[in-house]
Amino acid sequence: MTAIAIDGPAGAGKSTVARRVADALGWEYFDTGAMYRAITLAALRRGIEPTDDTGLAELTRALQLEPRGSAIYLDGVDVAAEIRSPAVNEAVPVVAAQPSLRSELVALQRALSMRGNVVMEGRDIGTKVLPDAEIKVWLTADLDERARRRADEMGEDDLTRLRVAIESRDAADESRDSSPLRKADGALEIDSTGLTIDEVVQRIVDEARSLEGS
Ligand code: DC
Repeated sequence: MTAIAIDGPAGAGKSTVARRVADALGWEYFDTGAMYRAITLAALRRGIEPTDDTGLAELTRALQLEPRGSAIYLDGVDVAAEIRSPAVNEAVPVVAAQPSLRSELVALQRALSMRGNVVMEGRDIGTKVLPDAEIKVWLTADLDERARRRADEMGEDDLTRLRVAIESRDAADESRDSSPLRKADGALEIDSTGLTIDEVVQRIVDEARSLEGS
């Protein structure tokens, strides 16, 4: 079993790149941000506060959470669209800062990684979830580029608003006590500003192939 861990700030292109790398290698792909988002959605629906760490951890144990490629099943229902709502966007950094909830999801993510060769992306994959991953990638892009990409994705043209939103998510992820966002030791740093997706994907696929050949 081999793992590629891809971490980095919001809007760096982690999901697209991770999905494409997994497709190219024929490996499984896991978006761990979608898991934090699905728990946030379930909490909002049940009226559990985003700061209620114990309540969130209990909720995670009680639910069936099953990421499958780009889909994510919550008690058997795909909630991939609902987890991108503005309400979830707003609450998820607060939920993701809760330590007991994080422990539950980290355990689940480690179990998923045991299924075979995986590409897993998030914020703490190389530092916490899979510190022994054979390949760790720290994927970044400058703030303007990340705001432009989000604008394209969302069909929105208020770049200033997007820049502020991305900066505030980064600040929340970097400053939390529990597994703050940071580059893992030994991670390959790729600044995707000015690179095409194909170029970024190819660099990571080349790394994986050189591992297979060694
Ligand atoms: O990548 P995303 O925007 O879907 O992530 C949603 C939130 O979850 C974001 O605030 C970062 C957080 N997250 C995290 O803390 N740890 C992860 N492994 C993945 C995401």
